[in-house]
Amino acid sequence: MRHRILFVCLGNICRSPSAEAVLRYQAGQQGLSLEVGSAGTGNWHVGQAPDARAMSAAAGRGIDMQNLRARQVSVADFTRFTHIFAMDQSNLADLQAMRPEGGIMPALFLGPASNTPPGDVPDPYYGGAQGFEHMLDLIEAAAEGFLETLS
Ligand code: 4NP
Repeated sequence: MRHRILFVCLGNICRSPSAEAVLRYQAGQQGLSLEVGSAGTGNWHVGQAPDARAMSAAAGRGIDMQNLRARQVSVADFTRFTHIFAMDQSNLADLQAMRPEGGIMPALFLGPASNTPPGDVPDPYYGGAQGFEHMLDLIEAAAEGFLETLS
C-alpha cells in the first residue's frame, strides 16, 4: 500500500508544512512515491501560505513551499492517512483527543518513528530566523530516519 503521511502542528504555517515539503523533497530524491500532507490543530491560518520565514529557510535548502496552503486537521484524516505525525506533545495530545474509533494512532515525529531522539520540534513562530534553521535541522534528520524505516 502506498504510504500516506500527514504532519500536524498548531497553525500549519511553520513546522508541519516544512515537514511536508522536506519529506516530499527527500522522497523525490530517492525516487519514492509517497503521499504527503500537513494540517494544523487550530484554524487561525486556514487558507494561508506558509510563514514567510519558513519558506525562506526552506528555499535556502533548495526546497519550495510556495504552493502549500494551511488547513485544519479533520476526523477523516485518521482513516485517510497511514501515518499521522505530531510535531510536539501538545499537538499529539490534541490529536489523541479527536482520534475516532478505528482511526490510526498519531505519533510524535521525533522518536521511534524516525529513529531520532524523542522530543518536540520547537515552535519557531515567536522567535527569529535561527529557530527556523533549527526546526529544519530536526525535520531533515527525522525525515531521513523515517524514510529509512520504510526501506
Ligand atoms: P506552527 O507555528 O504550529 O509550527 O505552524 C505556529 C503558527 C502560528 C501560531 C502558533 C504556532 N499562532 O498562534 O498563530
